[in-house]
Amino acid sequence: MIYNFDEQINRKNTNCVKYDALDKYFGYEDLQPLWVADMDFKTPDVINDAIIKRAQHGLYGYAKASEKTFSLIQKWMKKRHDWDIDTSWISLVNGVVPAYSAAIEAYTEIDDEIIVQTPVYFPLFKSVKANGRKLVTNPLKEENGYYSMDLEDLKSKITSKTKLLTLCSPHNPVGRVWNKNELNELAKICIENNIIIISDEIHADLVFKKFTPLASISKEISDITLTLNSAGKTFNIAGLNCAYAISQNKEILEKFNKEIQKREIQSINVFGLVALESAYEFGEEWLNELLLYLKSNISYTKKYLKEKNSKITFLEPEATYLLWLSFKNNSNNLVKVKQKLLEDAKIALNDGRSFGIEGKGYFRLNCALPKKNLEEALGKIVTYF
Ligand SMILES: Cc1ncc(COP(=O)(O)O)c(C=O)c1O
Repeated sequence: MIYNFDEQINRKNTNCVKYDALDKYFGYEDLQPLWVADMDFKTPDVINDAIIKRAQHGLYGYAKASEKTFSLIQKWMKKRHDWDIDTSWISLVNGVVPAYSAAIEAYTEIDDEIIVQTPVYFPLFKSVKANGRKLVTNPLKEENGYYSMDLEDLKSKITSKTKLLTLCSPHNPVGRVWNKNELNELAKICIENNIIIISDEIHADLVFKKFTPLASISKEISDITLTLNSAGKTFNIAGLNCAYAISQNKEILEKFNKEIQKREIQSINVFGLVALESAYEFGEEWLNELLLYLKSNISYTKKYLKEKNSKITFLEPEATYLLWLSFKNNSNNLVKVKQKLLEDAKIALNDGRSFGIEGKGYFRLNCALPKKNLEEALGKIVTYF
């Protein structure tokens, strides 16, 4: 390994949600935070150096993306995901969540129905309601910790008012990398029913098996898809808001562009652009090592819980560093579990219920942290569970 993912970095008092907002969200300050989906690893030096160099210029006027920005995104998609895209299919935007909210307004009217597969990253359903649209859930099926799509349920939920389906691919929090067959079946239903798919692929680079971008499967599927992505999760630069949308369908992209311009969210700031470019140009080696480290943290957690005879169970995710822990075998009721996590173990995890009602009995643990810190957290958890 060239890169040192074991380095322990103090993130307190850095305007950091994960560490500095514990009191606000959990009511306690002295918790070890394994919640928000960013990593406790330093961003690769290729990015830090580029940002420092840009800062040394000392002047930060309005930023403009260059041809190079678009071409690096294009090359990244080809290199990492074997997806051929044209630079004219890309629009930059200052976050996947803002882009999603804009897409809802671009393709639907008030009271139209949007289908979301729960449990899922909560802004994907909150934003539906916040934009005055009707949320229809198509819960995932779970069997022994393994999740799949319930396409029969999906078909039964479609009405003449269904205009959009939100896909989280790979899926946060259940960690699935949807395979080509699953994506094909899903898209077939959407094509037959004139439903546009918003495919949130922000975790696409953090995968432990082959990932297929939905729109790369066929022209027919690409024609009904708006893909959302970002370098934020991959390179731990979420605070730099460097996201983008991709669609081969001109009408879909134009409607989206109109909406992001209306909301004035169509630009990435000076440092975000620098970070995005240096990440995609020089960050691949770091990413490859990061994936090895994450995989070993996941296996370590699995082994640790087993060795300590913990009642907590989880299936190793196919993607992401987010572990979907089931506390269902625990004899305590959920209120007690939460209380014990916070007051006894002193650990901050995401309550599964925040991802939808189907998340009841689960907590999401972020294992993207140095092994020593992970070991400390697991030690505290198994003392009580
Ligand atoms: C599935 C998913 N989409 C979007 C985001 C956030 O994207 P952004 O920070 O670009 O708005 C996250 C962050 O956790 C996520 O997990």
